[in-house]
Amino acid sequence: MEVREAAPSDASAIAEIVRELVGAFGERPAPAERLQAFVAAAIDGRSGLSLFVAYQGGVLAGLVSMAAVATTRDAGLFGYIDDLYVRPAFRGHGVGKALLAKAITSAEARGLCELRLATDGADPKLLSFHEGAGFRRSGAWLVRPVVRDWSGRRRP
Ligand SMILES: CC(C)(COP(=O)(O)OP(=O)(O)OC[C@H]1O[C@@H](n2cnc3c(N)ncnc32)[C@H](O)[C@@H]1OP(=O)(O)O)[C@@H](O)C(=O)NCCC(=O)NCCS
Repeated sequence: MEVREAAPSDASAIAEIVRELVGAFGERPAPAERLQAFVAAAIDGRSGLSLFVAYQGGVLAGLVSMAAVATTRDAGLFGYIDDLYVRPAFRGHGVGKALLAKAITSAEARGLCELRLATDGADPKLLSFHEGAGFRRSGAWLVRPVVRDWSGRRRP
């Protein structure tokens, strides 16, 4: 499995998996042209959204996206996980775990204070998956503290 930050050559495959994941949540994806432009901007670092991809056997198996958001609570930035998605055929083999781990190391490297994601918590398996990665419920969020900085030192 290869997990890495998205590159320009991933743009079409990412647009395709985004259409798939938006549909899986019962919503309608953005129009194709807008989505393509948005993905290209994210990959170029122009939209504030970081994209990480997982490939297996040359196929895009999954994706995680994260945006840095400013918060007064910690007087800093947290990482908001917008999408975490693994294609059904690739589930149960550690792809989701590897994508979350990549988002966590990226958050550490960028000095973010924590990661947050929103979920209704209705699926106990999904909840234990996130808890396994260090997330804990906090109000409407699942929150995972980022305890180390880019050099591996514990954050004060
Ligand atoms: C959640 C998701 C990303 C996990 O990806 P994955 O590659 O299957 O995850 P891993 O292989 O790393 O971990 C598998 C674990 O996730 C658990 N899991 C999480 N969500 C699950 C679900 N909805 N159904 C079944 N198992 C699930 C499994 O129980 C398994 O636990 P185990 O290792 O103890 O057996 C994937 O199921 C997915 O894309 N789901 C649809 C989108 C979604 O719900 N995203 C999360 C939004 S917050």
